[in-house]
Amino acid sequence: MNDFLRFEKITSFLHIHEDIWRYEILETYPQHLAPYPKSWLDELRNKSDEELYEIDINCQSHSVQDNEFKEYLDTIKEYSNIDYIEIPEHRDYPSWAFFKVKEKKVHEIQVIIDQIQNLKEKVPFNKIVDIGGGVGHLSRTLAHYHSIPCTSLDIDEQFQEIGKKRLEKFPLPKGANQVEFVNHDFSKNLEEALNKKIFSRDSFSIGLHTCGPLAKHHLNIHLQEDTCGILNFGCCYNRLDPRSDVNLSKKANESPVNYSPYALTLAARGHDSMDFEAFKFKRTVKLFRYGLHIFLREVLKRDDIYAVGDSHKRYYSNGFSSYITHKLNELEIEHEICVSEIDNFFETKREYLLDMFYANILRWQLGRLLELHILLDRVIYLNENGQEATLKRYFHSQLSPRNLGILSIKKS
Ligand SMILES: C[S@@+](CC[C@H](N)C(=O)[O-])C[C@H]1O[C@@H](n2cnc3c(N)ncnc32)[C@H](O)[C@@H]1O
Repeated sequence: MNDFLRFEKITSFLHIHEDIWRYEILETYPQHLAPYPKSWLDELRNKSDEELYEIDINCQSHSVQDNEFKEYLDTIKEYSNIDYIEIPEHRDYPSWAFFKVKEKKVHEIQVIIDQIQNLKEKVPFNKIVDIGGGVGHLSRTLAHYHSIPCTSLDIDEQFQEIGKKRLEKFPLPKGANQVEFVNHDFSKNLEEALNKKIFSRDSFSIGLHTCGPLAKHHLNIHLQEDTCGILNFGCCYNRLDPRSDVNLSKKANESPVNYSPYALTLAARGHDSMDFEAFKFKRTVKLFRYGLHIFLREVLKRDDIYAVGDSHKRYYSNGFSSYITHKLNELEIEHEICVSEIDNFFETKREYLLDMFYANILRWQLGRLLELHILLDRVIYLNENGQEATLKRYFHSQLSPRNLGILSIKKS
């Protein structure tokens, strides 16, 4: 499926299921379950823990009987299936090249370098700019071991100081090139002179995990300065402004997706990384959190509290009353309700709270499609502005779950 067709299909699917993804389940009190088909919840109620886990983590429909429910899961799986070709890692670097660099980062750097090498033939760049380069691992590897001059751009001076010291720590190979650290917020004013110098027509820039709106600024500086190309990986979609940072392309604006902050948080969710035990623990966390929410409203008549923060694992092991007592202390809410009443409340609500958890499983599946809508919209926006842009999965999911990258190069 090409990017354009995938975008159209995802857009229609998101429109159909807007009631599910637009609001977090807690936000719709007392109609928490209203957007969720009753027959789907009925079916989830009768599933084993293993079957629930397969649906929640892998969007797996094998155990599902209801045809519409099956189609819902299968469609999400089909639309979010992006081709992935694993690139063999080249380990012919000296032992110190990746000294104290995490496995995830080493993997990402090697994949990106492979891409850059393939691009050399096609894209006439003379230097690389690493946006949000931090301590400069990517720039250092590219410059020292692949002889490409690099600028590592970041607003964090402390990271850059660590990076500068490291440049002098180990012997340089023959033909090593320069790494320049530039401390700069390029996104404040895209038009400023320093940006024009850094993002020149012979530069290619990489944004590895550009948080929230930083990715949009990366796209725009590429267009504005007519640079050779970019490779961009977005993250932290919850930091995007639903009014101005999504639905960027003309195509998206023909049928915009009505993002909310809750939808953007769902788009930023993690993928594939929870084991079976963690899934069962997540259920306890959700049941207690949902229970607290209803307890506050129905027993204590407090409907002004939403954010309650996370709790340490130990507060979930001694039952609901122990969790509630701890939470009410933290929130400085006085009450005279005894432990047995609290536990009794939980028991009477258990079935309903479980339904909320099942509803959460249904909603959770749409996270990847929301992420894909955001990213494909960026791809189409670049194409509409004269670039050759594509979306691909670059990294191994287990090592680096935020693995969808946009490659955009100037049309020749
Ligand atoms: C999520 S981290 C990614 C770091 C690195 N690229 C990686 O993948 O490990 C984002 C980086 O962007 C930097 N950053 C955030 N806003 C920036 C801006 N406006 N201009 C330059 N750097 C920025 C942060 O200081 C941080 O180092």
